[in-house]
Amino acid sequence: MQHYTNLNDIQNLDVIINKAIQLKRNPFQYKELGKNKTLIMLFFNASLRTRLSTEKAAKNLGMEVSILNIANTWNIEFEDGTKMNLNTSEHIKEAARVISQYADIIAVRAFPTLTDKTKDLSEIIINSFKKYATVPIINMESATDHPLQALADGITLEEQKTKKRPKVVLSWAPHPKALPHSVANSFIHLAKKINIDFMITHPPGYELDPNITGDIPILYNQKKALKDADFVYAKNWSSFSNYGRVLHSNSSWMITNKTLGNAKFMHCLPIRRNIVAEDAVLDGMNSLVTEQANNRVYAAQVVLKKLLTQKNEIK
Ligand code: CP
Repeated sequence: MQHYTNLNDIQNLDVIINKAIQLKRNPFQYKELGKNKTLIMLFFNASLRTRLSTEKAAKNLGMEVSILNIANTWNIEFEDGTKMNLNTSEHIKEAARVISQYADIIAVRAFPTLTDKTKDLSEIIINSFKKYATVPIINMESATDHPLQALADGITLEEQKTKKRPKVVLSWAPHPKALPHSVANSFIHLAKKINIDFMITHPPGYELDPNITGDIPILYNQKKALKDADFVYAKNWSSFSNYGRVLHSNSSWMITNKTLGNAKFMHCLPIRRNIVAEDAVLDGMNSLVTEQANNRVYAAQVVLKKLLTQKNEIK
């Protein structure tokens, strides 16, 4: 694994999930591995969980951590060959090479524009870091992907399942703001790689990228989709075809205890209470949201450990 920017960077997902569960039991086991190594985390966008869990993971491995809210630094130019006489002050070519001098691993968060579909799908920010940095890159949520969240969700499903092949449903839920597709996309990447009975439910118009959903069953009837589900993963996303638009906020799609039934409830957080899911769901025994957030530490730690181990082997 040269970088971790997509779940496909992990070759044997089952093995990695089980290694993460082992790390959770003994988080300081590899405290020497990251000694004298630095993780630099760059945030183009805000974060609570990703920032704190990835920092904790790095420190569990003995790493130093530097965090930069890059939106507050020079505006970076990502296009090649541009005459930089407008708002951008530094090109990614210099920025990535310079940051690589200070870091052993660079982690980047950069959300989509949700206005320029072509630019978002090109993943110009994360791909430019991969191209110009000289150290491994970790995706802390990019325009189309959130692979650390997906790995944490894989750990949570593995820990919580009570049958070999549980039924898992990804359900669209309402939200007043236009949100990215990244969490839903990454959860689908995960679902394709693990042994679950998986389907997606959303109102018409909220179809995700067909290159990602492929032949996964999609139901427009939430009640039918959630019948006999073992896990319900709720998430809002904006329209993909009518790019970045909120088509409607139909409150009947909010997850309630009645719609959830006996299923476990999952969400990546942050969540808007009584919009995405009612209080009774989030405060109930079947909510896994805090455990998912806890598992973000071990998802990040297993990825950092793998990248550090490989770096040592190359030397
Ligand atoms: N789930 C998640 O990525 O949370 P943050 O946006 O707070 O990092």
